[in-house]
Amino acid sequence: MAASAVPRTQPRTGEAVADDKRVVVLVSGHGSNLQALLDTTTEPGSGMAVVLVAADRPGAHGLERARRAGVDTAVVRPADHPDRPSFDLALRDLVAAARPDVVCLAGFMRILGPGFVRAFPGRILNTHPSLLPAFRGAHAVREALAYGVKVTGCTVHLVDEEVDHGPVLFQSAVPVEPGDDEDRLHERIKREERRLLPLAVRLLAEGRVRVEGRRAQVVTAEGVSR
Ligand code: GRF
Repeated sequence: MAASAVPRTQPRTGEAVADDKRVVVLVSGHGSNLQALLDTTTEPGSGMAVVLVAADRPGAHGLERARRAGVDTAVVRPADHPDRPSFDLALRDLVAAARPDVVCLAGFMRILGPGFVRAFPGRILNTHPSLLPAFRGAHAVREALAYGVKVTGCTVHLVDEEVDHGPVLFQSAVPVEPGDDEDRLHERIKREERRLLPLAVRLLAEGRVRVEGRRAQVVTAEGVSR
């Protein structure tokens, strides 16, 4: 059966995705970015399929979203490994077995070391809730508010061996509004992430991202983006 003929309610793993670009998503929490990806990839003719969702903790709600979409899930817990490099390698082996074209970090709150990153060169995307290089790390929205910035936003970038550092593919600015608290501001930022992340995954999967040094550009029929 052609991938595009698979009804939306059917699991899109195994044979059904034989021709599709394969996307593995790593999550730690709520999984609203994962949901945006699932919604995009289950559209008929998307040419992409999320083939595995893995989390670092069993309670990640993203796992439930994946199960509901009929996508395979796995959990790799840091506590089950003696140190970070062995966690990286266990996760690497799990992800590699799913033969991904793109690995997408969608709210995955662990730092991935070289053992993982080197296995998927130029194929890992992350979304971060600030305009990098401002406010790297796990508390980007809180720190932006505390700093008193007027504008923050999100960054979708390729992953290299430094935290929140690889070449920037997309950024979107989000103004801070009077009365914002961390949750309210983060939710407006996540709206932008949910718009940009599926687009970035699609472009990378289709081989339409060119990286030269720190510059990631989208290849279009007319040339490349800025
Ligand atoms: C996103 O803002 C992402 O950038 C950050 O964690 C959030 C994940 O949100 N690292 P969700 O789990 O996709 O709803």
